[in-house]
Amino acid sequence: MRKIYLAPSLLAADRCHLNIDILKAESFGAEYIHWDIMDNKFVPNTALNELELKANHNIHKMVNDVHIMVFNPKEVAKKFIEAGADLITFHYEAVKEEEIRDIIGFIHSKGVKAGLSVKPNTDVKVLFPYLKDLDLVLVMSVEPGFGGQKFIPNALDKIASLREEIDKHGYNCLIEVDGGINAETGRMCIDAGVDILVAGSYLFGHDDMKERMDALR
Ligand code: DX5
Ligand code: ZN
Repeated sequence: MRKIYLAPSLLAADRCHLNIDILKAESFGAEYIHWDIMDNKFVPNTALNELELKANHNIHKMVNDVHIMVFNPKEVAKKFIEAGADLITFHYEAVKEEEIRDIIGFIHSKGVKAGLSVKPNTDVKVLFPYLKDLDLVLVMSVEPGFGGQKFIPNALDKIASLREEIDKHGYNCLIEVDGGINAETGRMCIDAGVDILVAGSYLFGHDDMKERMDALR
């Protein structure tokens, strides 16, 4: 049986009490904690910042999973690596194709894991040439930028074709899905072959967060 990991997304957490929500996620068994970073250009919104990561990255033992939705991923990655990121995932659509290997190499040179993400309208096959070098691929199941959106089902085929390609070659690359995840859509993603479920609005702000996390697995 494939192990399923949970990555609660702090975009939906109480920003005035991030530390409390982080510790809550950990005590309920999350293995990853998902930090959304936005530049108000690649996506029309802003989110968490490096000071919040710096202040909270080592109050827990989960993986600091930093999802950067920005046009200048190398510079932003540097800032968040210094602030304590364990894993940096940047967007295929945010860079020129010829920059991708350099950015992955830069992240790895700092001892940090590297992920690459595609938005809902991007063909997942663009990720295939990089799977060998990546620690993670992130399939966006909503348009990045906002929490609380509805799951876009084309993510399921993308997860399935990534699962097939990764298993065929024996690559050591995890598949993560982000956007509109709840017990129902999470189950569909698990059946399609996902490893890590990101969930924000389904988890934070609910009294039964623990039961919801159990339901996701
Ligand atoms: C959206 C972010 C997500 C967001 C998911 O751009 O990347 O991580 O927090 O939120 P939900 O789970 O509410 O769809
Ligand atoms: Zn995210």
